Amino acid sequence: MFELKERDGLARIGKFYTKHGTVEKPVLLPVINPNHILISPNEMKEKFKAQMLITNSYIIYKKKELREKALKDGVHSLLGFDGPVMTDSGSFQMYVYGDVEIRNREIVDFQKKIGSDVSTILDIISPPDRKYEDAKSDVMETIKRANEVEADALTVQGSVYPDLREYCASELSKLDCILHPVGSVVPLMEKYKFKELVDVIVASKKGLVPSRPVHLFGCGHPMIFPLAVLLGCDLFDSSSYAKYARHNRMMFPDGTKNFDEMSYSPCPCPACMNFGELKEMTEKERIKKIAEHNLWVSFSEIKKIKQAIHEGSLWELVEERCSAHPFLLSALKKLGEYKEFLERFEPVSRKTFFYTGKESLNRPIVYRYRKRIFERYEKPNADTLIILPESERPYSKTYYDVMKKISGKVNAHFVVNSVFGPAPVEFDETYPVGQSVVPTDVEYDDELVKEWVEKFDYPDVLFWKDDKTFEELGSFKRKTSFNPDVQKIKGVAFYQFGKCQNLFRGEIKIVKSKNGKIRNVFVNDEHILSVRNDGFYTLKMNGAKKLHLIFKYPKMRVVVNDDAVPFIKDGKSVFSRFVVECDPEIRPKDEVLIVDKNDVLIGVGRAIMNREEMLSFKKGVAVKNRA
Ligand code: GUN
Ligand code: ZN
Repeated sequence: MFELKERDGLARIGKFYTKHGTVEKPVLLPVINPNHILISPNEMKEKFKAQMLITNSYIIYKKKELREKALKDGVHSLLGFDGPVMTDSGSFQMYVYGDVEIRNREIVDFQKKIGSDVSTILDIISPPDRKYEDAKSDVMETIKRANEVEADALTVQGSVYPDLREYCASELSKLDCILHPVGSVVPLMEKYKFKELVDVIVASKKGLVPSRPVHLFGCGHPMIFPLAVLLGCDLFDSSSYAKYARHNRMMFPDGTKNFDEMSYSPCPCPACMNFGELKEMTEKERIKKIAEHNLWVSFSEIKKIKQAIHEGSLWELVEERCSAHPFLLSALKKLGEYKEFLERFEPVSRKTFFYTGKESLNRPIVYRYRKRIFERYEKPNADTLIILPESERPYSKTYYDVMKKISGKVNAHFVVNSVFGPAPVEFDETYPVGQSVVPTDVEYDDELVKEWVEKFDYPDVLFWKDDKTFEELGSFKRKTSFNPDVQKIKGVAFYQFGKCQNLFRGEIKIVKSKNGKIRNVFVNDEHILSVRNDGFYTLKMNGAKKLHLIFKYPKMRVVVNDDAVPFIKDGKSVFSRFVVECDPEIRPKDEVLIVDKNDVLIGVGRAIMNREEMLSFKKGVAVKNRA
């Protein structure tokens, strides 16, 4: 069972419950080979604070003394580790040596007998060079095997073919199990085929139920962790820490270095503290130290990722890490092809948007912004559209004098030609337009602003450049008028909820803070909205009642079963297990209407999950209730 705690898009911090304790993911499982223990399970626990280990049940099965001890005392006792232990099945040995004399049922049975917390099926590894038809039969055989046993980990196969991956994932999702590894990615990793890795992970995620943890099988290099977590991977295993060390190779978050070529280590870990001493050690001692370094670096990267999820800066971390290698950069570019899928999990807002390069504009939030600003926005009643160049935020401060001067002459509406696309000044405080740091000298094409000019059809349009531009205003007439504050609340509300003119029907009263920022909105003396710190609105119950009438079912709705109704009315949050239906357009951090099965409004709150997650998770909060 897995419970979502914090999330940033597909990336998630969550609790994963096992018989031997609860693990917080994303998590790295060091591989323990009982035949070659380089760093003991006890050290893993005490020194490295490893939460969970993985070992290979086939290795234990094959060696009489290990097998007998494991059968007698259990795998935890064999390893000397009282935390959760996952076991692999021997698929990898079967793939590498081809002579594994064991059957699926037998090895899964054995894993259960030795008390594994997560047993794995004997899935068929299907490398990237496998022909489509062969990969397909590997998938069919893997699905057949998943059906014939009750293993806890059912591996998604399908080589590099997205349709096979997605099919395999959706078939395995129908079965009862604890988690889903994504298999056969080791050859992709070894050849630095990160772009293909993105295809494989995304296709697998598309087919999997969102409530199960995903394990990227055999991927132990920290340079890939941030990208994989961004795409929804929760568990990693590493035998690489030891394998690399045996080849004198040191892992870093931005790649691998050969120990012999290093005179200095930039790493602050205990193993690197006196780096010079490593050069003097015996080979055996040194291998252990390098293995320790590799583990420190790997665990540290997982912590860095968790903090990034917590503060909403994982995209920035991924972009930074992906600049470390040209093939990672291709993988980052590839994400742009999946923005439609990624957008389904994309929160309404997060911490400040840091622009790290043109790839930042591939993020799903930019895709959403561009879509909504064309589909949901309504222009004010203005004669003149003034297009301002991209500039420092807040735009209203940067362009204060310019806007004041122009407004004195004509009834103008101001739109910034921003990197995100056309940005009406009303969006000055909202994420991502207003809550972003963008260098002012970036180059981007202005096709979108041209499209905007065409679509919204203002009587006069002027691209503002410098003070000389004022002269061109001379011939413009003032015919119309609009209230910029009202335009601001409508513009942002339409963007956030969809077009909803009637929300504002009546006498509008806007309450501002001392510094002039809009804080609360009343209509006919009813408090309908207040501004939250991402520049969007918190929906008050009075506002929710209006939107419930304006929007037809299922828009904005989260439907709960009858059992939950009294709790919701009492102000309790909505747990995902109570949700029976949900608007597919709801995104994390969206304001939602909580209704019963007859569409009676019973609460209002903020979504934590999207529809597919609400309907899939058995544990955790789906909507924070505010009623
Ligand atoms: N270890 C690395 N890759 C795999 C895989 O695809 N399946 C299994 N069972 N173990 C692995
Ligand atoms: Zn180190």
